[in-house]
Amino acid sequence: MSEAQKKFYLTTPIYYVNARPHIGHAYTTIAADVIARRHRLLGDDTYFLTGTDEHGQKVQRSAAAVGVSPQKFTDEVSSSFQNLWKRMGITNDDFIRTTEPRHTQAVQKLFQLLYDRDAIYLSTYTGQYSVGEEMFVEGPPGTIGPDGKPTETVTEENYFFRLSNYQERLINLIESGELAIQPEVRKNEVLSFLRGDFNAVTVRVYDEALFSDTQHPPPGTIVPANLPADPLDIAYERGWVLKSASGKYYIPGALKDLSISRTSFKWGIPVPGPKQGEAEHVIYVWLDALANYMTAIGYGSDDPAEQEKFKKYWPADLHLVGKEIIRFHCVYWPAFLLAAGLPLPRAITAHGWLLFEESKMSKSRGNIVRTETILDAFGTLKPKPIDLPGPVLSDEYWKHEQDLFASDVLRYFLLREIPFGQDGSFSFDALIQRYNSDLANGYGNLVSRTLSMIQRYKAGKIPANDGSQSQRFLLADIQNRVSNSFSDCRFDQSLQQIWNFLGSVDQYISEAAPWKLAADESRNSDLETVLYTAAESIRIITALLYPVMPGTTAKVWSQLGLGDIEEAARKGELKNLEWGGLKPGTPLGPLGPIFPRADKGLIQLMTDIETNNASTTTKTTEPPAPAPQSVVSAPSAVAPATEGATETAPIAIDDFVKIELRVARVLVAERIPKADKLLRLEVDLGYEKRQILAGIAAWYAPEELLGRRIIIVANLAPRKMRGLESHGMLLAASHGEDGKPILATFADTDEIPLGSRLK
Ligand code: ME8
Ligand code: MG
Repeated sequence: MSEAQKKFYLTTPIYYVNARPHIGHAYTTIAADVIARRHRLLGDDTYFLTGTDEHGQKVQRSAAAVGVSPQKFTDEVSSSFQNLWKRMGITNDDFIRTTEPRHTQAVQKLFQLLYDRDAIYLSTYTGQYSVGEEMFVEGPPGTIGPDGKPTETVTEENYFFRLSNYQERLINLIESGELAIQPEVRKNEVLSFLRGDFNAVTVRVYDEALFSDTQHPPPGTIVPANLPADPLDIAYERGWVLKSASGKYYIPGALKDLSISRTSFKWGIPVPGPKQGEAEHVIYVWLDALANYMTAIGYGSDDPAEQEKFKKYWPADLHLVGKEIIRFHCVYWPAFLLAAGLPLPRAITAHGWLLFEESKMSKSRGNIVRTETILDAFGTLKPKPIDLPGPVLSDEYWKHEQDLFASDVLRYFLLREIPFGQDGSFSFDALIQRYNSDLANGYGNLVSRTLSMIQRYKAGKIPANDGSQSQRFLLADIQNRVSNSFSDCRFDQSLQQIWNFLGSVDQYISEAAPWKLAADESRNSDLETVLYTAAESIRIITALLYPVMPGTTAKVWSQLGLGDIEEAARKGELKNLEWGGLKPGTPLGPLGPIFPRADKGLIQLMTDIETNNASTTTKTTEPPAPAPQSVVSAPSAVAPATEGATETAPIAIDDFVKIELRVARVLVAERIPKADKLLRLEVDLGYEKRQILAGIAAWYAPEELLGRRIIIVANLAPRKMRGLESHGMLLAASHGEDGKPILATFADTDEIPLGSRLK
């Protein structure tokens, strides 16, 4: 892929607003910001979009869990994303929210267009639905979904999208590279999904070739020599598999139609209509969400300026995504566009997962690190330049400077540490180590030793350049390599190249020992050459690093006396770098440390901030947050134990919120043979039915329970007892160790729908 293009339209996924952002989201957004800045400095008309995905059952339930309306909930969480990107200096050109009218009306238009083009039909569907991932999955009831939780059985009247029509076209587009998917491993994953599972076909071929349908040969039978090397060749002759344009096999019909509306909940964009008087449908959240890439730049708008924008920027040049959502981006999305007669995105690049404590960092697992933690902690490292001329910095300005500094550290770390595309572990320890070795001791040290020598020996002016060292570091070669790896999103390699360069400059300085040259008047021109060479190398390194660390490179740039790096980027001065750009005689700007060393105390600080925040800020709405100290409460803060009650440590509201208590009706209750304490219950939660086991057989006869509305812990991990699985636990109160448990129930007169959450 060539880097220079006229326009470059780049997107991140729009993030779900079911909880606040963590560094997994920052990872994608950072990478996108680096790419956007790089394209801008190359002179491309760059448009960078991010946003939030606000509809769907997951969001509806998260809002219900904290007892606020979905709109209020999404407003709050969406602004926490927007604020974070501001704090980090992310240069997105727009931020789209799927609850905005510009989006909802355009999605309805897209739906209507698909309908009018006969890409959509109405039918019913029963299947297993993963609420966590908002998708249907194959398997029996209770199948564990991609989010690690049991699926729910959903039967719905749905609109279906004729996805099956696009199998061959998609395979051809992807195989030919017209729709570019990176890295290769993801491309293959998408292709094998599109081609279908060849297992059954292979078995059929072998069965026919070897044996009659019924007679299988005894073990040890010699396989006939004439057996095909590739059973698919035979399958092809028989028409069981077909060939794509590039000659690769696929199974016709492997791609099934896709349900693209929902009736079981309301929080979504209504299907435009009314159509055929059916139930109220909302548009499938993924069709809604994917469309953001077009609606944000004016698709479906009546405003001519917006329409122009759409014409100018669509199709997207790059959708940057995490690897778990490639099917949506590489199969569904292009198929929707084909059906609508719209151009396809040029490329989709998927990165890997940030892992924390061994598993994927995710809101639902709760093993997250917040970006704010890193900003707050690393921000404290930035020393305030007391000797800066000009007006005193306001606190607000200063805070932003600290944020940008810390954000650079995170940007560098994530892109350098983890080969883009692969999974990588995040740890505070690794962050500090890299910071110290690469930034404090590496780049920062090179800058400060060089500039302070220029200050000391050359009165703070860039010394003369005799041109003798212009070939020393093979600049063109370095630039090429850095540029190639940037354009392929191999950020770690770009940075490694830059650090190799940096290392050779360091070594050059050490060998040339300018401090010795400075002691000898007669060697002044050698001294000037060494200092010029070092400073000019720093200029080039800084220009190359700008997209990755815009805040700190800006400081270095101005210390070099070059002024505003953003302006230099706009003017095209950061590309096609040539030796000699630094003009002798230029006075350095005010100097100051760039990357002060970090000590291990910072790890503790970050861990503490995380621990306190884990219990105070992960949810949006809550009673006034308790002061951090009271969360990790000392025993003395516990209320005196009341008669008969056991003393437990107080928990924060967020701990309580983790327990999903719901109203359920008992449909079936029966004794379990050979288990005299247990009853087997089938309960109805409104949105699903479940089996739970309860140790109350000694006190309750099964028939006493029928029809009663009880309270269950709905998100308890399934447990096996006596060979049966229990999916939840009912609540009862008892007095004393052996007291009779009395079920917590609702009176028949209480109007509380099944599935309602207690809080
Ligand atoms: O999937 N490591 O939203 P989402 C790396 N709304 N990246 C991570 C990550 C991790 N541990 N966790 C999240 C959705 N991400 C949909 C997208 S697009 C039309 C709709 C990043 O909130 C990564 O980019 O689950 C991932 O694909 C995205 O956040 C998922 O965010
Ligand atoms: Mg996700």
